[in-house]
Amino acid sequence: MFDFITEEHKMIQAAARDFARKAIAPIAEHHDHTGEFPLETVRQMGALGFMGIEVPEEYGGVGMDTLAYALALTEISKADASHGTIMSVNNSLVCHGLMKFGTEAQKQKYLVPIASGQKIGAYSLTEPMSGSDAGNMKSRAVLNDAGTHYLINGRKSWVTSAPYADIIVLFTMTQPEKQHRGITAFLIETDKPGFARGKTEPKLGIRASATSEITFDNYACPVENRLGQEGEGFKIAMQVLDAGRIGIASQALGIAEAALEASIAYAQEREAFGQKIGQFQMIQQKLADMKTRVEASRLLIYQAALAKTAAQQSGGRYTLESSMAKLFASETAMWVTTQAIQIHGGMGYSKEMPLERYFRDAKITEIYEGTSEVQRMVIARTLTGLR
Ligand code: CAA
Repeated sequence: MFDFITEEHKMIQAAARDFARKAIAPIAEHHDHTGEFPLETVRQMGALGFMGIEVPEEYGGVGMDTLAYALALTEISKADASHGTIMSVNNSLVCHGLMKFGTEAQKQKYLVPIASGQKIGAYSLTEPMSGSDAGNMKSRAVLNDAGTHYLINGRKSWVTSAPYADIIVLFTMTQPEKQHRGITAFLIETDKPGFARGKTEPKLGIRASATSEITFDNYACPVENRLGQEGEGFKIAMQVLDAGRIGIASQALGIAEAALEASIAYAQEREAFGQKIGQFQMIQQKLADMKTRVEASRLLIYQAALAKTAAQQSGGRYTLESSMAKLFASETAMWVTTQAIQIHGGMGYSKEMPLERYFRDAKITEIYEGTSEVQRMVIARTLTGLR
């Protein structure tokens, strides 16, 4: 039916499904319980090419397209959304940004190890006082008199993978008077003086994906580690998030698929009042609506993935398609996991089954990389051209 899905796409999807079932699914509950970062399986994902799917082979990736990335990420997230988050940030927020805006030297030095999974990448935009209003940041980078280094100071929050990241794409103010047009992007090496990590955040869901604050205290960033030009940071951040939102939509789809499959199986075997619960119309209605929303999410993700691939050739934007996919898939994941718990009743509420993990993991997809409210704002602004 979808002739844009090639044999190559099916192969990476099957490889991701196989790895997810064999290596991730068995450890997901343990990592959710302990909050331990799954470093070993993340390294294995790198060796299999899942950490740089769209990066050309000469830069350490596997040189496939966005659809391949979305298909693989859905499978990984179906087994465990924490692995999905780590994979999504590395691929779309870090590799994509480096591919699009990095110099050749930056690609050689940073993209090659990150895309091949030898190093872990992170992306840092949010600050304690600016989340959705991303342009309103307080951290600063000041160029020294010699023009060789920027001195960076300030605090950033909610940085996914920060406790384990080797390289962080940082957005900070170089010219505050210019507001969002004064933001610049930098590549931060986390083993250098002046960089520190805060405590790993205790979270409701995606508990195995480590998230922390990071602080900069006179961190000296060489000029050659500036990503793009001074003042281009906000647009880089937004363009990278266009890519990232397709990743989060795929993660949400994986969570929703897992919850739906568990619910179908339960409806087929659980009995009440002398029949299978799947024979009750109220359960049937839930399953029918869950499946329909899951498939609608999938179509929006396909559309966004194809739009991104087309935009890479035409130089156009795919902001609308990406935001629609992220909005719909994340709200679907939340809704579907809620229904899944209801279908399972007490078992759904119990930690003996993964349903409550799916439910907790789904919530973040409506929040990070732009809340549902931000996605609606982006979609409406694109439609009307009004601010
Ligand atoms: N592509 C290219 N340019 C873009 C763009 C895009 N997608 N979106 C905005 N721009 C440009 C605009 O054209 C405008 O350009 P000019 O300066 O030339 O006029 C400029 O950027 C400013 O745009 P806006 O006026 O629309 O900016 P705004 O301040 O109103 O903010 C917003 C818009 C959509 C709300 C934006 O701030 C936003 O996306 N906020 C959410 C931030 C977010 O998603 N944070 C996630 C953090 S990262 C994360 O969660 C990762 C993780 O851990 C997994």
